[in-house]
Amino acid sequence: MTRGIYITGTDTEIGKTVVAAGIAGALKKSGIDIGVMKPFMSGAKREDPHSDAAMLKSLAEDTNCIEQINPYQFDEAVTPLLAAEMNSIDISLDKLLSHWNEISLTHDFFIVEGAGGLMAPMGSDYHNGHIAREMGFPLIIVARPGLGTVNHTLLTIEKARTMGIEVLGIIINGVQFGERTLAEQTNRKLIERFTDVSVLGEIPWLEKLEKKTIIEAVENNVSLNSLTGLGVKA
Ligand SMILES: Nc1ncnc2c1ncn2[C@@H]1O[C@H](COP(=O)(O)OP(=O)(O)O)[C@@H](O)[C@H]1O
Ligand SMILES: [Mg+2]
Repeated sequence: MTRGIYITGTDTEIGKTVVAAGIAGALKKSGIDIGVMKPFMSGAKREDPHSDAAMLKSLAEDTNCIEQINPYQFDEAVTPLLAAEMNSIDISLDKLLSHWNEISLTHDFFIVEGAGGLMAPMGSDYHNGHIAREMGFPLIIVARPGLGTVNHTLLTIEKARTMGIEVLGIIINGVQFGERTLAEQTNRKLIERFTDVSVLGEIPWLEKLEKKTIIEAVENNVSLNSLTGLGVKA
């Protein structure tokens, strides 16, 4: 069975793409046959080099075509459910999973980036959590560094577990190490006091968001050893 992880976040615009693409690039560099997937993308064109799908493809050096990586693209910056309804497009979970079945054999290990947070609606009767569960992939939760993140992170873990989805770890993204507030300095420990899920690392705020700097930020700050249980030697 194809292995992989599903990257979700405590919110949108939290750094899921930066983290997912960085992990994909780091694993690729360590010699793993990595594929990426962005099932739904709204508010961006696939051809835009800064779009989620294009960034994932570029950092992972995935040879799959962009339509395989991102089967559903919408121009409107709204949740996939609304965008699909506005464009009369069928985005049933069955259709998405049959697409997934086709591409799942193209690589050994997949990094999948969901759209929005865990319960962001995708189709009319499912959200991100259902996709992760059907794919059988554990979650990595990307969280922001500041005040409020403990609550959002614990809520996301709680919901995942209610759905029977394994949570592999948390990554705090965008830390401005030189000028951390008291909350930012203490959030990692506070999260770990209230859950048995580990914080795998804290990624700094990067002045230059380039392929090399993103991959190095993941290599230097995230414990990728936790993926060894998934069959990855990193
Ligand atoms: N560690 C970081 N350093 C600098 N900019 C970042 C970092 N993480 C995210 N960003 C920026 O923040 C915005 C949101 O990040 P993104 O990865 O697209 O979030 P999401 O995928 O959760 O919507 C983007 O403009 C991205 O370039
Ligand atoms: Mg994204």
